[in-house]
Amino acid sequence: MSEKFLWGSATAAYQCEGAWDEDGKGASIWDEFCHSEANTTKITGDVSCDFYHHYQEDIKMMADCGQNTYRFSISWSRILPKEDHVVNQKGLEFYDKVLDECEKYGIVPNVTLIHYDLPDYIGAKGGWCYDGVSDEFAYYTKVCFEHFGERIPLYTTINEPNHNAYCNYCVGNYPPNEKNNLQDYAHCVYNMMVCNAKAIREFRKFNFKNAKIGYVHGCAPATALSDEPAYKEAVKKLDFFCNDPFTEPAIWGRYNPELVAEVKKLGIDLSFVKQEDLDIMKDNTIDFLGQNIYSRQLAKPYESGGTRFTVNNAGNNDGTKNTARETRAIEGWFETDRDPNTQLNKWGREIYPACAYSTLMLRKEKFGNIPIYITECGHGAYDIADENGYVEDDDRIEFLENYLHYILKAKEDGVNVKGFYVWSTMDLYSWINGYKKRYGLVRVDYDNGLKRIPKKSYYWYKDFISKHKDI
Ligand code: BG6
Repeated sequence: MSEKFLWGSATAAYQCEGAWDEDGKGASIWDEFCHSEANTTKITGDVSCDFYHHYQEDIKMMADCGQNTYRFSISWSRILPKEDHVVNQKGLEFYDKVLDECEKYGIVPNVTLIHYDLPDYIGAKGGWCYDGVSDEFAYYTKVCFEHFGERIPLYTTINEPNHNAYCNYCVGNYPPNEKNNLQDYAHCVYNMMVCNAKAIREFRKFNFKNAKIGYVHGCAPATALSDEPAYKEAVKKLDFFCNDPFTEPAIWGRYNPELVAEVKKLGIDLSFVKQEDLDIMKDNTIDFLGQNIYSRQLAKPYESGGTRFTVNNAGNNDGTKNTARETRAIEGWFETDRDPNTQLNKWGREIYPACAYSTLMLRKEKFGNIPIYITECGHGAYDIADENGYVEDDDRIEFLENYLHYILKAKEDGVNVKGFYVWSTMDLYSWINGYKKRYGLVRVDYDNGLKRIPKKSYYWYKDFISKHKDI
């Protein structure tokens, strides 16, 4: 793989592919959830922007924009539709065709092996809390490594295990929709990191010379608005919740004993932890970190109100109020803080470009020179199109320009940043936000045959890449 800086954009299988039951694909927990009563929005990813049938057009558009990399995910249930481990050749063929298209334009694939969409048969056994999930994941990833090999030079195991576990078991807005369940959160988090390590063990068996493996982390290191000791303690505890149980085993191959002791004090039963898993984690760490950058994680000392969690896309928040701010609190540990001086997007999420700098610098401070790809960064908004479907998304351009300013500054200041991916390549399904919250560089006209229309931000990104391609 060339060592040029990678400039691209990202999508995920359930969010863009559509074709949810085509060519032998099995159902994932997201198909199941979206088709069930639990999905109060009734919106699904059944068709979405139908990348399954539009991939050629979409990848050409990336190339025309000057993008030299594309991050996408593989749908596990397209490859292994049933629990009998029989491989669906049509599933492999689809991704072969996507890779052919990338190769045609010199686009480096950066491929995530799972982006939230566990097969339904794993969900039925307990999902991420099923103790067999890591062996199942290892088997699935082995099939991928064997088949795709070094055609994929950048693999990532799991997308945002932190955010996924949090939505699944704390907020309850993602399947299996459990709320405030710290016991299952801890179990899920642990199993995810065992999955990560076992997949890496499979990967290493192939001795690839031109392929590397990482995972994608979804939140910033915790920070605070005050230097007081109680705030520092809250920062540590927030990191114990959403950073350290992921980054430390993935990068260092071990857990911090203080974290383990504090988790036990919360009354969490850690009997699911096995020495043999810890040994596998120790020997199977990542080559690079995928870091998604959206906003800060501000901590303050716990005050009152008990353990509670809300996220910016919970329930029926349609983005019209921007009142549904993200809150997380663990009794006795921390509460998340709010800075009244920062701008928020329509879904209540802070827009704070300097967090890109602090995130990267803090990662470097703790983990040294590890290569980092910014695997997602983007702005969710209601886009208003003119009569030709053209969107002048100056807010998105401003967002990306400001975040990139800080990312490039961190690179100049020594962080080993190797690539950047706008979330998202084109408009797609935004989980339970549905389709109104848009992130794409390219508009998808859902009412007119899924027509693709590049937005102003697409042309802005093209120009930006051309000026920064040799950094
Ligand atoms: C990341 C996910 O958390 O943020 C994406 O990896 C997601 O899948 C993106 O779409 C934006 O979040 P949302 O909920 O606004 O779509």
